[in-house]
Amino acid sequence: MPSRALYAGWRSAGVGMTRTEGRCGADPAGVRTGYSARAESARWEATAISVTILIGGQWGDEGKGKVIDLLAGSVDMVVRSQGGDNAGHTVVVDGQTFKFRLIPSGMLSPTTTCVIGHGMVVNPKAFLAELDELHAHGVSTDNLVISDRAHMVMPYHPVFDQLGEQQRGDDRLGTTHRGIGPAYEDKVRRVGFRIGDLTKPVFLEKKLRFVLRLKNESLTRLYGHEPFDERAILDEYLGYAERLAPHIRDIYPIIQGALREDRRILCEGAQGAMLDLDLGTYPYVTSSAPTAGGALTGSGIPPSKVTRTIGVFKAYTTRVGYGPFPTELEDNLGELIREVGAEFGTVTGRARRVGWFDAAVARYSVCTNGIDSMVITKVDVLDQIESLRIATGYVSKGEHWDHPMSNISHLKHAEPVYEEMPGWMSSTRDCRRFEDLPRACQAYVERLGELAEAPVDVVSVGPDREHTLVRRPML
Ligand code: GDP
Ligand code: IMO
Ligand code: MG
Repeated sequence: MPSRALYAGWRSAGVGMTRTEGRCGADPAGVRTGYSARAESARWEATAISVTILIGGQWGDEGKGKVIDLLAGSVDMVVRSQGGDNAGHTVVVDGQTFKFRLIPSGMLSPTTTCVIGHGMVVNPKAFLAELDELHAHGVSTDNLVISDRAHMVMPYHPVFDQLGEQQRGDDRLGTTHRGIGPAYEDKVRRVGFRIGDLTKPVFLEKKLRFVLRLKNESLTRLYGHEPFDERAILDEYLGYAERLAPHIRDIYPIIQGALREDRRILCEGAQGAMLDLDLGTYPYVTSSAPTAGGALTGSGIPPSKVTRTIGVFKAYTTRVGYGPFPTELEDNLGELIREVGAEFGTVTGRARRVGWFDAAVARYSVCTNGIDSMVITKVDVLDQIESLRIATGYVSKGEHWDHPMSNISHLKHAEPVYEEMPGWMSSTRDCRRFEDLPRACQAYVERLGELAEAPVDVVSVGPDREHTLVRRPML
């Protein structure tokens, strides 16, 4: 892996300091430091795998579910740490499709414990529907646990989500309307309900009386909406308690026990780094931290235990909802990629916006999350495109930027700087080794890793497990 020498080449430009040439693998003179494949490979083989974090490196839907499913059989535990049923992770096994929203995508592995961590916001109704769906497919959920500290999405949260979006009008975010933002708001405001509250009916009733007064006041006064009925919510949620009970646990001893016994843990990220509340394109983000850091705070795993961080990236870029997207293709080519890649949201069915691979975004994700292994998915979607573009940075107001700037209105209008590469104009679907890929395809994938400054270890050429080319085992 390229060394992470600190870049000292900041050029002071008054208030807005601009980083003009540096990369996280560049030395102070802006020259790339030597990447030693041999040293990297020795380090890789010598590392005893304990905790692997897997995150999306773009704006979500990179194919995380597919990769988690592939790795699940080789780990003892898969833990999700953030988000809720705004996530939609697709796993295809022998042509059969499974869609995971709250339940970790490792659930198809019968020997793997799957954990819904305390950083998540769980809608019990959606959870039970997902459980039923898995059971209908004959999948056992005996190894599934939910942290009693995880927060709940309450019936009023999706309503606030929708009303909030309506209120924003043209500035709406394009949320999934699953109530994720309002549930996290209540958590931070300390008026949230936790899964463990379901086991304390008296406490639940008392707290709901207080919280619902606040909620109903906002609903009726601000939005002219019908108030919620306390009894109805209590009956509904206490009704869920019985079915949830076998899964509810204090996950602290479970996670710590696994760490003590050197079990392999895989943290499953939802959303993507560019949807992070702080590092993403705020306010066009989700309300959690879909980063390596978020994986730890949302599960109680200490940073010192992390041995590997995998970033999943599409061979191009997509984004659902509104917000800046410098490499967006709003033409026939974009339409073609959307159709070939079936780029329609798993949760809402919305058409995903499509654009060229943005290496400035990828490098930013690699550097801020410590990604040391890249998976490039959906390479097959580009099979019939004659010429491909990769953004290496942007020009904004006459300045060159090598990373997405925090000012989203500048990012929205930034001009991407493109490199052009020839396409391969042939099917990659049946390739099973990296060497089987057409030369131009190999060169394209290698260039993505080079620009993002992390090795590409896995290439995916189709949705099924078998459509996976492993260059170096991830675990
Ligand atoms: P996630 O949210 O990151 O898990 O990704 P999604 O499941 O929302 O979206 C990825 C979509 O692409 C799913 O429909 C996958 O089945 C599909 N997919 C994953 N990898 C590949 C691939 O290499 N090629 C193609 N054509 N589809 C893929
Ligand atoms: P997975 O895990 C893609 C987007 C929404 C919206 C923004 C805020 O499948 O990759 P929210 O409902 O979270 O408040 O919406 O975040 N978003 C996703 N986009 N994939 C996801 O999850 C997403 N989860 C949220 O479209 O733009
Ligand atoms: Mg998805």
